[in-house]
Amino acid sequence: MIFIAVYFLPSKEGSTVAEPEETTPEKVEMSVPEQVEKPAPEMPVVKQVEGDALYNSKGCVACHGADAKTPIMPSYPKLAGQNKDYAVTQMKDIKSGARNNGQSVVMKGIMASVSDAEMEAIAEWLTSLPKEVKSDATLAAKGAALYNNKGCTACHGADAQTPIMPSYPKLAGQNKDYAVAQMKDIKSGARNNGLTALMKGIMASVSDAEMEDMAEWLVSPM
Ligand code: HEC
Ligand code: HEC
Repeated sequence: MIFIAVYFLPSKEGSTVAEPEETTPEKVEMSVPEQVEKPAPEMPVVKQVEGDALYNSKGCVACHGADAKTPIMPSYPKLAGQNKDYAVTQMKDIKSGARNNGQSVVMKGIMASVSDAEMEAIAEWLTSLPKEVKSDATLAAKGAALYNNKGCTACHGADAQTPIMPSYPKLAGQNKDYAVAQMKDIKSGARNNGLTALMKGIMASVSDAEMEDMAEWLVSPM
């Protein structure tokens, strides 16, 4: 199991720049120029650090995992690499109750202590995390074909992680059980928050078995 800790410290690669030239092996006084690194403290980076801290202090870590992609239950979503706008709206909707499908309720309580600004910071951090790049058509060809034929590509992108809008979710690498549950809930209307209406129509032509097949593709390891 690999845990990737991402810290947004200024890169320390300064020492690798001036490569020693292939000089004759006599005493070479190497004076590597001290690279003056621009700190470039862009707002997103500050926000990411703040978001990382909030994610831990608010207790998100308990359910979604320290790396935001090892949730404690297969029915819970992975968050790492998710679109920022999408993540923020889901937090707001779970907090307000506009999204109340599935197991949203287990998260609702905690959101009472999370402000809009804090959600933004957390989402800034989440979106910066490496997303598990998955979805290999050869491993789940049936699901991949369905995903194309049903028109999911139009909104979520051919690779399932380049949605056409920042407010749409990335799907690749998501937990299978979670993905299937969301498709069912969007189809039935149990999940009707945000922009789910856009997707509802298409789901009428998708059976439960097809959802399983597509989810198999969405989560299939590279
Ligand atoms: C008690 C467990 C629990 C805690 C704590 C929790 N969540 Fe969740 N979260 C869930 C579950 C379960 C869902 C999916 C609900 C469903 O549809 O079944 C979810 C959904 C989400 C989603 C939407 C994901 C998507 O793909 O639509 C986001 C974003 C999210 N959580 C962020 C957070 C953040 C940030 C925190 C901390 C402030 C947090 N969660 C705390 C359990 C939890
Ligand atoms: C017209 C655009 C559109 C099409 C087509 C579409 N979707 Fe979606 N999908 C969305 C939007 C928007 C959301 C998020 C809804 C919200 O909460 O605002 C979503 C959410 C989802 C989710 C839940 C993601 C999460 O993290 O909770 C899954 C899974 C999903 N779509 C799979 C599919 C599949 C599979 C297809 C093809 C059968 C499909 N979608 C077709 C727009 C679309």
